Amino acid sequence: MVVAVRRRRALLSGWLALLFQQPRYGGCGSAKTGSIGWWNRRIWSRCPWHQGAAMAGKHKETSGESSFPKNRGEEDNKEHQAGTDMHYPKETVRKRQNSSRSSRGSDSSRASRRSFRLDYRLEEDVTKSMRGKDGKFVNPWPTWKAPALKNILKWALTEKNNSNVPSSKEELDKELPVLEPYFVQQPELAGRTDSGIRVTWLGHATVLVEMDELVLITDPVFSHRASPVSFMGPKRYRAPPCTIEQLPKLDAVLISHNHYDHLDYNTVVGLNQRFGGELRWFVPLGLLDWMQRCGCENVIELDWWEENCVPGHDEVTFVFTPAQHWCKRTATDDNKALWGSWSVLGPCNRFFFSGDTGYCAAFEQIGKRFGPFDLAAIPIGAYEPRWFMKYQHVDPEEAVRIHIDVQAKKSVAIHWGTFALANEYYLDPPVKLEEALVRYGLQSEDFFVLKHGESKDLHFDEECFENKPTTFMSTPMDVDKMICEVQEEENKKCVLND
Ligand SMILES: *[C@@H]1O[C@H](CO)[C@@H](O)[C@H](O)[C@H]1NC(C)=O
Ligand SMILES: *[C@@H]1O[C@H](CO)[C@@H](O)[C@H](O)[C@H]1NC(C)=O
Repeated sequence: MVVAVRRRRALLSGWLALLFQQPRYGGCGSAKTGSIGWWNRRIWSRCPWHQGAAMAGKHKETSGESSFPKNRGEEDNKEHQAGTDMHYPKETVRKRQNSSRSSRGSDSSRASRRSFRLDYRLEEDVTKSMRGKDGKFVNPWPTWKAPALKNILKWALTEKNNSNVPSSKEELDKELPVLEPYFVQQPELAGRTDSGIRVTWLGHATVLVEMDELVLITDPVFSHRASPVSFMGPKRYRAPPCTIEQLPKLDAVLISHNHYDHLDYNTVVGLNQRFGGELRWFVPLGLLDWMQRCGCENVIELDWWEENCVPGHDEVTFVFTPAQHWCKRTATDDNKALWGSWSVLGPCNRFFFSGDTGYCAAFEQIGKRFGPFDLAAIPIGAYEPRWFMKYQHVDPEEAVRIHIDVQAKKSVAIHWGTFALANEYYLDPPVKLEEALVRYGLQSEDFFVLKHGESKDLHFDEECFENKPTTFMSTPMDVDKMICEVQEEENKKCVLND
């Protein structure tokens, strides 16, 4: 009884701290200031699409015609010019181009790579981000309800916390062993996956993904607490399986939103110290300033459905896609930044990172436009009690529905086994996941669970040709409309099947 009360108090103080702490605890805010000019805010690269918003008009224009990929060569430059001029004053464009040219590393790409345009015929079928009258972002789905203080209190005071995380390290080591990731001993193997995709779970929502000659990390958290302060807030009961120094060379970081268990100040600073401007940060709209105050220079901030890429890797497109969640780091910054998921579309593999989310209609849209995905990382934990959590966190059954909606060939379970954020028994998520898979007629290996630090290689039989012409055409709708005979001949054109 005493323990239960104490736990509730601990929980309550954590949440109240999050609700009422002062902005100075927000992390980067006061830590560093830089004299980074306004025009440096977006680091321009030689990606074919510099920034989604600038290109959206162009895509709409062409959305009626057949959008078969063609050799874009010089067209890219013209388009860039047109795209940017449309949206920014001339002066700004010039400054940006200068800053891009002189910035080290981040734009030293091979300009000769061919790249392909995504198919935008489904442009009108997706839900765009929305803001309320106060300028703050809102969830545009009927499945959303904001976590009211009244309900937070009700949860904290009346619901039983069934986490029961053992305090004995032996027991934890037995139930949730933390393995040393393969790349600590064999860093030379990292990033070499041929046409396959490799995923390593580093705890909570942090996964390392190697695909299409890139090494990515999602929502990196290497700290021991998910909190603005080091003495309070959710503490991880399983340590990170490696340090930032032990990571292989990373090309990109994907950030889903700014909650402390997904965006950690010390981790951002640590990664930036190690990789500097070579590392590209993909962040939701509204987070750019915060990232720059952390010292990060190579940051791309995107709205839902906008896209960009890593310099020198034009062939892999990063699209910020929706999710149903919310944002908060300080007392007053609620939903000033956006939240979402990431769709990474390469010539060989497609990876979907769902971030932190409740179940909503977004995933079907994402699946229609960008599926099938070779791999999805989907949360299975922090879901009890449902009356309170369901708007912001899926349970394992809804996770399986996301897996189906986005048309994932395989999924990896994340967002469990690391922080005790909600009320379910700490070992329940994989058990419930297995039950849900059975109900949906799926196999354990379709939506698998990894140990901390464990990796899995996924090799798909299909050959991967660089510049495979149909790579970006395979939304199910398109497949219905077209007969694409890629396997037979590399350069064979798709045929419309009207
Ligand atoms: C851009 O660079 C050119 C040549 O390097 C220089 O003459 C010009 O003043 C620069 N413009 C700005 C806005 O910095
Ligand atoms: C629930 O209990 C665990 C210990 O089992 C504790 O670490 C955690 O903070 C509590 N969770 C909440 C949401 O209070």
